[in-house]
Amino acid sequence: MGTQARFLFCWLCLQVIFATVLSDVWKAEVVSEMKALVSSCVVVPCKFQYPGRQLPDSRIRGIWHKKDKKENIYHQDPVEIADSFKGRTRLLGHLGEKNCTLELDKVKDHDNDPFCFRAEIPDLDKYSFVQSCVTLSMMPDPENPQLEKKELLEEGVFASFKCSIRHTCPSHPPTITWSHSNSKAIVNNRDILNGNWEVDSLLAFIPTEDDDLKDLTCTVSFHGGKSSTATTRLHVKRKTNFFHIIIPVVAVLGTSLLFGGVCYIMRKKYRRQIQDLQSRNANGIWSRMSRMSQRFRSRRRNETDLRMATKHNNY
Ligand SMILES: *[C@@H]1O[C@H](CO)[C@@H](O)[C@H](O)[C@H]1NC(C)=O
Repeated sequence: MGTQARFLFCWLCLQVIFATVLSDVWKAEVVSEMKALVSSCVVVPCKFQYPGRQLPDSRIRGIWHKKDKKENIYHQDPVEIADSFKGRTRLLGHLGEKNCTLELDKVKDHDNDPFCFRAEIPDLDKYSFVQSCVTLSMMPDPENPQLEKKELLEEGVFASFKCSIRHTCPSHPPTITWSHSNSKAIVNNRDILNGNWEVDSLLAFIPTEDDDLKDLTCTVSFHGGKSSTATTRLHVKRKTNFFHIIIPVVAVLGTSLLFGGVCYIMRKKYRRQIQDLQSRNANGIWSRMSRMSQRFRSRRRNETDLRMATKHNNY
């Protein structure tokens, strides 16, 4: 083998090594398919690799474009963005941190195209296409949330309800409200991978008699104005207690005990006076009665005297 041939061989080897190393370094990971709610937003998670040490965000140019047409849907220079996407796209990730996460807002029903990420490092004159694309499947209307509860509720016993919904818009997560007033809910927004998120709201309250046969509704309001609901009817089992018997009985017993006690004390305290009063009263009555009987007797006597006199006169 001549020197020239050897040199050519080495050069080819180097080419192959460089190409594999570079292609290995320049790569991106994008979820291949995601659901998107029309009018809301969708956040496409994206990670990528670039060669060399970490660079500041400003040194890297991140571009999102349609796969088939040369049409940018995101570019740091707004002039480069297709009109139908102007003002609707935003890079949420920091490119320096190898994060190319994209937000597409005000989703339209024809935003399905495969969208691909491309990174450029202009000043280093290194430039690469990374074809990692996502296709959006459109949901014209939101799904209804899931409402979990216990079948039978018991009056006075803490009950909890869970309303949950999946979504792909974590930058403006949906809000969940409940029809049950004066109760607080705990909200949780979870990443369930591949760009899917789940928001749930935990409502806890103590059911009362009034809640029986009432409807409990959870309403999910999505970014962009759409909403969906789930409703359940509450069945509250009355608490088996004897309060409605115990309370009046206790009240009656208490009152009579109190009354009896007061009477006893009064009687003890005023016994002497009462006795005096009683005897005085008895004397009074007795004397009045004896006076009356005296008067009566004397009147009878007068009458007999009179009758006797008339008898004598007739005689
Ligand atoms: C990328 O950025 C998004 C938006 O700021 C963030 O939610 C996500 O956690 C980041 N991903 C990684 C792998 O750091």
